[in-house]
Amino acid sequence: METNKQQHTAGQRVRALVQRSHRGPRDLTLTSDHRTPTPGPGEYLVRVGAAGVNFADVMQTHGAYGGGPQAPYVAGFEAAGEIVGVGKEVEHPLPVGTHVVGTGPGAFAQYMTMSAAAVLPVPSGWSDAQALGLVLNWATALAALKQLGEVKTGDAVLIHAAAGGVGQAAVRLARHYGARVIATASPDKHDTVKALGADEVLDSRRPDLAAEITRLTGGVDLVLESVGQATFEASLAVTKPFTGRIVVFGAASGDATLSTHDLVFTHQVQLKGLHIGALAAAAPSLYRSLLVEIEELIAQGVYLPGTPEVHPLAEGPTVLRELEAGRTRGKHALDPWR
Ligand SMILES: NC(=O)c1ccc[n+]([C@@H]2O[C@H](COP(=O)([O-])OP(=O)(O)OC[C@H]3O[C@@H](n4cnc5c(N)ncnc54)[C@H](OP(=O)(O)O)[C@@H]3O)[C@@H](O)[C@H]2O)c1
Repeated sequence: METNKQQHTAGQRVRALVQRSHRGPRDLTLTSDHRTPTPGPGEYLVRVGAAGVNFADVMQTHGAYGGGPQAPYVAGFEAAGEIVGVGKEVEHPLPVGTHVVGTGPGAFAQYMTMSAAAVLPVPSGWSDAQALGLVLNWATALAALKQLGEVKTGDAVLIHAAAGGVGQAAVRLARHYGARVIATASPDKHDTVKALGADEVLDSRRPDLAAEITRLTGGVDLVLESVGQATFEASLAVTKPFTGRIVVFGAASGDATLSTHDLVFTHQVQLKGLHIGALAAAAPSLYRSLLVEIEELIAQGVYLPGTPEVHPLAEGPTVLRELEAGRTRGKHALDPWR
């Protein structure tokens, strides 16, 4: 196996996880004859130090991610690593050797390309793995809470899947902004969520979830809705009419539906959709303001180096299956060199 990071050439054979069908993580397989990609215009070639595992990876293995790749494809889309090549037309390129965190196709591999415009340098003194989540989990949590959710001190905020990658970031941020946090998670993850500072932690699967949240809060100001089918009805029921906001950014349990009739006659809430990649593309100045704010959160010590559970690349299919089944907590990552 290659260990000398200087030895790479375009087209060289490297290790990667390839998704060969849309039948889920069971058809994700390790290969050692993936070819190192060539950076296109505006791209860096990055030697991947650690690749982030996200729920979107699970959705992609089923072909259920909007605009996602078609099988066969090299899986993964979030990583941190070292710039080892620069494509044409990169404005003000970072020097080769800089460690960056970002997104791009084929992150579950030893080398990948990333759009130069969308990467951030790995914060000084942090490892690649510690920087994972910066442009994905934290940016999504921040946009949901602040830019879209307009969180204010004293707001009651409901955060579903609070022990997850995005959920943990959201709990920490909501507490930082002075919100009262009502979190949901599986019972065996409640200690994790409590330790992050959540005021209340409830089992999202309890049948009286909406009644209990209403009893505790009298109605919430903001919901971070990423579970979908299993929680959406409760989210609607507990949100304060007219002033309450629901930011929808995922559907881990499947799709939920809502009619115009529901919005007019039953649930008069402010409903906002969020996809962080779409936000970066459609509202670049808003996205840049998110990244500036994350840098401030790092400087203030609110955003600490991440502590992902790092697995060898070959364990990727198992990690994805665990994530799919809701059995993980926090951030998971793959090391393509192990
Ligand atoms: N829109 C965007 O730009 C964006 C960006 C990043 C992530 N996301 C979304 O945000 C959510 C969290 O992402 P993540 O990567 O951090 O994943 P995650 O939260 O670590 O994992 C998903 C969690 O959802 C919960 N869940 C509840 N019902 C479930 C069900 N029926 N099946 C599976 N899981 C269920 C589980 O936690 P409990 O067992 O504790 O309930 C599970 O651990 C996902 O929906 C993802 O698609 C969206």
